[in-house]
Order: sequence, then C-alpha cells, then structure tokens
Amino acid sequence: MNQLALRSKFNEVFQKEKLYFFAPGRVNLIGEHTDYNGGHVFPCALSFGTHCVFCKRDDQKIRLHSLNLPNKGIIETDLNNIAYDKAQDWANYPLGVIKTLQNHGYKLNYGFELLFWGDIPNGAGLSSSASIELATAVAMNSVFNLHIPQIELVKICQEAENKFVGMNCGIMDQFASGMGKENHAILLDCNTLKYEHVPLNLQGISILIINSNKKHSLVTSAYNDRRRESENALKALQTKLPIKSLGELTIEEFEANKELIKDPIERKRAKHAVYENQRTLQATKALKAGDLETFGKLMNDSHISLRDDYETSCPELDIIAEECWKIPGVLGARITGGGFGGCAVSLVKDEAVKQVIDTVGKVYQEKTGLKADFYIAAIGGPARPMAKIY
Ligand code: GLA
Repeated sequence: MNQLALRSKFNEVFQKEKLYFFAPGRVNLIGEHTDYNGGHVFPCALSFGTHCVFCKRDDQKIRLHSLNLPNKGIIETDLNNIAYDKAQDWANYPLGVIKTLQNHGYKLNYGFELLFWGDIPNGAGLSSSASIELATAVAMNSVFNLHIPQIELVKICQEAENKFVGMNCGIMDQFASGMGKENHAILLDCNTLKYEHVPLNLQGISILIINSNKKHSLVTSAYNDRRRESENALKALQTKLPIKSLGELTIEEFEANKELIKDPIERKRAKHAVYENQRTLQATKALKAGDLETFGKLMNDSHISLRDDYETSCPELDIIAEECWKIPGVLGARITGGGFGGCAVSLVKDEAVKQVIDTVGKVYQEKTGLKADFYIAAIGGPARPMAKIY
C-alpha cells in the first residue's frame, strides 16, 4: 500500500472522509428584473461555479473558509448560535442557508468544516452568491439526510438571501443554479414556478460573456430601490386592474393603463418589466424556431430598456454592448444580471468571436482604462453532490 492509499484508508476507517459538492453560477440570456415582477426569465447554469468540501466534526462548531478570500481567515460559529454579522462577510451566505434550514425545523446534528472555492469571477453578476448558497444547501441536504426536494432547496436559498443577508432578490439565480441542465436554458414563469428546459441549439454560435470588471457596487440598495419602485407602480395599476403582478399585463393593457402610475420614474420601471416579460416569451419562441437573429435583436432591445427605463446599466456596460452591436457577426448583446456593473452576454457567430475579443477589448480599454475579460459559456448541470474524497 502506498502512502496515499494508507492516508485514504485512515480517513475511511475513522470516518474522516470529505464530501464534495458543486453548484453552478448562471448567465441570464434575457428576462432581467422580471422575476420579482411575476414575469418570465431565461437563464442557464454555467459549467463554472462554487466547489465545496465538507468534513464532519464531533462538536457543534461550524468553521468556514474560502480559498477565494484567504485573508478573511476561518469564520467560526456554533450550530446553536448562528446570526448575521457583517464582519462574517461572504460567510453570511452559507450561514444564512444553514440558519434558514434550522428555521424550517431541519435538524443538523453535528458541527462541520466547509471549504469553498469558486471559479466564478466575484461581483461579476454571474451569481457567485447563489452558487455558494446552493452548494451549502445540497451539502446539508445530503449529509444530514434531509430529503428536501431540489426546488425547496432553491426556495430556502432565496429566503436566506432575502431575510438573512438582506438582499431582496427574486428567485432566478437560485433557480438557475439549482435546476440547470447541460446545454439547455430554463424558461421559468416566476409567478407559478412552472418551467421548461429549452435546448440551446446554437450551431456555429457561441454565448460569449464579457466581464466589464466594473464591480457592481451599492448593488443591494439600488436593487432594493428598483424593487420598491416596481411595487409602487403595481399598486397604482391595482387601483383599477385586478392584477397581482406586472407580469400579468400584455403590452396593450399596460399602454392603456399606464397613466394610472403618476410617478414618471415608477412608470418607466413598470414599462420595462412588462415589455421585458413579453420580449422573453418572444425570444424563447424564436430560439425554438431556430431564429437566432430575432433572439439577438430582442437581447439588444432588452439592453436599451435596462439602460433607459430600468436604469440598471452603467457607462462601462453600455460601451461593451454598443461596441458589440457594431460587429456584423454579433447577433445580440446585453447587460446580464442585477446590473450596475458586472457582465454582458452576447450571441456571436463563431467566426466573429476573435474579432469581438480583440476589437471590443481594445476600444473598452481605451475608453474606460479597464480591461475586459471574455469567456465562452459552457452550459452545465444543477447543484449536486460530487464524489467522496479521502
Ligand atoms: C439579481 C437577482 C435576481 C434578478 C436579477 C435581475 O441577479 O438576484 O433575482 O432579479 O438580479 O434580473
């Protein structure tokens, strides 16, 4: 027996095995800021995400470490004493999930160590936080035999982010990370949680993600503002219309009733939510029909609406989108995710990918002084347990 095998035997005999879990990040193709407005979204899970290694302890302690943020050290707490603490920084995401599971009556019998490593660029709007949450949730579900259906894990993670972390997000990110499917996007009706995996038959076309490397700062407060403005617009419409969400409105119904919304900012927010929801449905239809030109045009319209009406873009992302639009092999390009920085997503003919990387990269750097990163997205599967490690 060699040294490695001997070490592995030790861990096996004394039950020191490490369990390994993975949860993907996501990129949203279209349907932005529609989830909490009761509309549709069309994201897909990425092949990169958060990796998490679990090891059991004999006491009630929880010890967490992220290899991405080694300076934060080991965050330590106790199973019976979990509370939000700003100083815990990134660890509030896994701790929020653990606490929310406890709040739902699930019993976690013993303490543990969790080691995290993510290959999603941080703060890029590709849902690194949701993937940390889902990785934690599938780990807890599996280790403590909780038998929670994956869709319930998704909801628990969203609740953790809303109530523990204080980010009033919709369900899209957690859903995409928890329910993704290789080479498919997910058409999700956020009102009913009915969903459909739609094959991404992109022959000769790549999904190119462009990271502006402009970190989305102040995102929580600006995001929560957008949410409140949309809710106010809904309340104004409800004075006449029997609707529960903006997602129920057709464009015609919105146009006929928009004057009920007195505040011009709130009216713009509602306009985006209604039009973007319809665009998402049209885009999915176009994709199913193999009409990627139409899909791309709808992506461009989505960017313009996020820039002008929902105002979640930023000059950096506008430059990236506009430079992409100038290149003939680009079918469409738009900001993706919560906004105020982060990434753009584009559909690019394979033969034009190099030109986009060279040209957009160069112009972007000249205009902003920032260097963009480019990734060709591979669409992966959902949050899941991986092999045991000894
Ligand atoms: C963030 C939120 C999602 C969604 C998007 C915008 O990623 O977490 O719930 O609202 O922004 O589409």
